[in-house]
Amino acid sequence: MSQIPTYVTGVPNGTEKGLYLAVDLGGTNFRVCSVTLNGDTTFNLTYNKVAIPKELMVTDKASKLFAFLALQIENFLKEHHSEHFESHRRRRATISTPSGYREDEVFHLGFTFSFPVQQLAINKGNLMRWTKGFDIEDAVGKDVCALLQTEIDKLKLPVKVAALVNDTVGTLMARSYTSTGAQRSTLGAIFGTGTNGAYIEKTSNIKKKIEGEYDESTGEMVINTEWGSFDNQLNVLPTTPWDKELDTKSVNPGFQMFEKRISGMFLGEITRLAILEMMQSKDSTLFRDDNSSHNDWTTTTTVASQSGLYKQWGLDTAIMSVAAADSTPELSTLRQELEKDLNIYTPSLEDAQAFKTVADAVARRAARLSAVAIGAVAIQSGLLKDPEAEVIDIGVDGSLVEHYPFFRDMIYEALRSIDEIGIQGASKIRIGVAKDGSGVGAALIALVAAKMDKSSGSLATEVKRELDSIPAETGLSNTALTVGGLLGVAAIAAVWWTRQR
Ligand code: GLC
Repeated sequence: MSQIPTYVTGVPNGTEKGLYLAVDLGGTNFRVCSVTLNGDTTFNLTYNKVAIPKELMVTDKASKLFAFLALQIENFLKEHHSEHFESHRRRRATISTPSGYREDEVFHLGFTFSFPVQQLAINKGNLMRWTKGFDIEDAVGKDVCALLQTEIDKLKLPVKVAALVNDTVGTLMARSYTSTGAQRSTLGAIFGTGTNGAYIEKTSNIKKKIEGEYDESTGEMVINTEWGSFDNQLNVLPTTPWDKELDTKSVNPGFQMFEKRISGMFLGEITRLAILEMMQSKDSTLFRDDNSSHNDWTTTTTVASQSGLYKQWGLDTAIMSVAAADSTPELSTLRQELEKDLNIYTPSLEDAQAFKTVADAVARRAARLSAVAIGAVAIQSGLLKDPEAEVIDIGVDGSLVEHYPFFRDMIYEALRSIDEIGIQGASKIRIGVAKDGSGVGAALIALVAAKMDKSSGSLATEVKRELDSIPAETGLSNTALTVGGLLGVAAIAAVWWTRQR
C-alpha cells in the first residue's frame, strides 16, 4: 500500500471560520463549491456539479481535462460570485501595475483530488497513477496543482490553487469539524466509486522520510493509505473467475485489486459477469422461462440483444441496491427494474431471486472486505484497548455506504467476527456518514494557500476583504447537501491556519 504522508498534522475542532472555494475531482462528477464555515461546527455551502465527459477521462493530453475543470470554475464564479468576479475583471482591465491585480482579491482554492498522489507539500503533489477508469498518461508524474493553475491562468480567473487533498482526508477533516462529541475522528473512509481511507498516525511510526516542511508539534500526521491497492499480488484476497475477467479487461490490470472487490464502480460488473455466465450455462435456466412456474406475468421471458448484461460496465451497481432493498414476496420492484434497466422482459420470480442472491453475495463480500480495512485501522489506533477511549469514531462517505441497504450493518457484522475486535470492540466503533467533506475542507484550504504565500501580506485582512466583497450565499444547511470531501479540504486549511497563528 502506498501509505502517503499528507502533511496534514491535525484535525479541526469545529471552531474554524471563513469563506473558501473548493473543487473535487475523483469520480464521475466534478464539483465546484464555496463554503462558509460558521465556527460552531456548522457551515453553509453552495455547489455546482457536472459529469465529466467520458472522452476526457482517457484523453491524450492532461491539459484537455484540466481546461475543462477550469471552465467549470469560471462558470461557478459567474453564477454564484458574479459581483466579485466582475469587479476583478474591471480592475484587471484598468490597472496598470505589472501584476494587474491585488492578491487580496484572489480566491484561494482547495483541490480535492482523489487519486494516488505523491504529496510534496500541502499545495503540491505528483500524480502516481490513475484509478477508477481514468487513463491520461500525459499527467502521470506531474504536479496536479500546477496543471490546474495553468488552465485557471489561461482564463485569467482570480483563483489560486492553495491546497491539495485526497477525498479521504477531506472526509476525516469534515467529520472532525462537524462532530460534536468529545472524541475526535480516527479514520476518514470512502466507499463510493472507489474505496480508500486516511487515518491519524504517530509520526514516530512513519518510517519513510517526509521531505519538506510540516508542523512537527502534534507528533501526528494523517496518512492516505490508498488501501484500494492492498494485496495487488493476491496473496490473501478472495478471487473468482469474474474478478479475474474484470481485472484483465480493465484499464489498469493488476492494480487496485482490493478496490476492484469493494467499490461501486466494480460491483455491478462482477455481478454482470457472474449472471452472464449463469445465463449462458447449459445447466441453468436463468431468464429462460423454463422454471417460471410462478411467473404470474405469463409471457415468455426475453433478454433484449441490447441489454446491458451483454456490455462491459452495462450493469449499474444501483440495481443491486434495488435488489437488496426489495423484500416483497413477489420481488416486484426488482422485476420491474430488471425490465427497465436491463431490458430483461417479464422475468420470473425465480429469475429475480437468483439475481438477488448473486447481487447480495457480491455486496456482502464487499462489505466484509471493507470491515477488514476499517478493523485494521481500529486495531492500529490502539484505541480498542484504551479504557479512556469511549468510541472510535469513523467518518465515511460514498454512494455505497450511503445508499446500499444494510452495507453498514454488514460491515458491523464482519467487525464483530474479527478476533481482536469482537462484539465489545465493534460496539466501540462508531461509523457515521461525513456529509459535505470536500466543501468545508475547501474553505480551510483557501486559508492554507494564503498563509503559505509569504508575499501576500496579512492573511487575516485578506480573508476579511474576501468575505466582505463576496455576497452572502443563501443559507443552505449542511444536512441538506451532499458534496463529498469538499468540506474536509476547507477544514484542513483552517487547522493549518490556526496552527500558524
Ligand atoms: C481511489 C483513489 C483514491 C481515492 C478513492 C476514493 O481508490 O485511488 O485516491 O481516495 O478512489 O475516491
